[in-house]
Amino acid sequence: MKRVLAALAAAAAALAGPAHAAYPERPITMIVPFAAGGPTDVVARIVAEPMGRALGQQIVIENVAGAGGTTGTVRAAQAAPDGYTIEMGHMGTHGAAPALYPDLKYDPVKDFAPIGLAAGTPILVVAKKDFPAADFKAFVAYVKKNSEKLNEAHAGVGSVSFTTCSLFNSIVGAKPTRAAYRGTGPALNDLVAGQVDYMCDQIVNLVPQIQAGTIKAYAVALPERSPALPDVPTTKEGGLPEFQVSAWNAIFAPKGTPPEILKKLSDALQKALADENARKRLLDLGADLSNKPATLPDGLAKLVASEVVRWNKVLKSTATK
Ligand code: MLT
Repeated sequence: MKRVLAALAAAAAALAGPAHAAYPERPITMIVPFAAGGPTDVVARIVAEPMGRALGQQIVIENVAGAGGTTGTVRAAQAAPDGYTIEMGHMGTHGAAPALYPDLKYDPVKDFAPIGLAAGTPILVVAKKDFPAADFKAFVAYVKKNSEKLNEAHAGVGSVSFTTCSLFNSIVGAKPTRAAYRGTGPALNDLVAGQVDYMCDQIVNLVPQIQAGTIKAYAVALPERSPALPDVPTTKEGGLPEFQVSAWNAIFAPKGTPPEILKKLSDALQKALADENARKRLLDLGADLSNKPATLPDGLAKLVASEVVRWNKVLKSTATK
């Protein structure tokens, strides 16, 4: 009997093997859980192109925005685990969201197979170009005094911009009107147009606008200045060392995706991150590519588990209204 079962298992493995060996046989969809033009979309498009080249199939970006990135993330968690749907998630969708949505329909740790970190993304405090403050100290003082008259833009409850600016507002005691967008791509358009006053966002979205002078960058929430924006002081230099925070973007597959497929996706990500052109574009936009261990599945699993715990603690003591 044992021999018959073993023979059946071997036959099944032989049948299953070639199917996975041929992966990918058609384009792969990468869900971006925010609107086009935001940082998640920017990182996804830079990385998806060389990843697709390494896999021999195109990776098509699908923007599924809503509810601070959780709508697209639910879609990714519930997709068929066949390697044809993956997601570019981030510190919000896979770190902060569980603390803000008690009925969240996914568990970032249990419902996903991590593929790897794509980029670390420092956080900047930016404002419309005619915001009446010359530097970060003056900005903080102005926000403290006038916050009830100010509009702060973010990408929805649970997003990076929402959680990091919740922290900023809480530290300085500000209570602005908080305007939710489907991503910080559209929020940035309104900041450039002067329709909102300030926001906290991932650097990769902001560098071109700061360089063009269409918005003002007050501070980067890092211990050191960013090489992409050497003229922008740190929050510590600007007298607010308590506000130090950064984010990240990473690729996930639905839980249950076969290990051989995960390995191909992970290998393709490694090749994409070694691609000179992709690296240069990410570094020029201020991405942090120094966390090598997290670019591998095990390292990303550890990062997600620790981020869920970290943000749960942080958000318990932070006003999020
Ligand atoms: C965020 O705030 O979570 C992101 O900036 C959203 C986005 O990528 O648009």
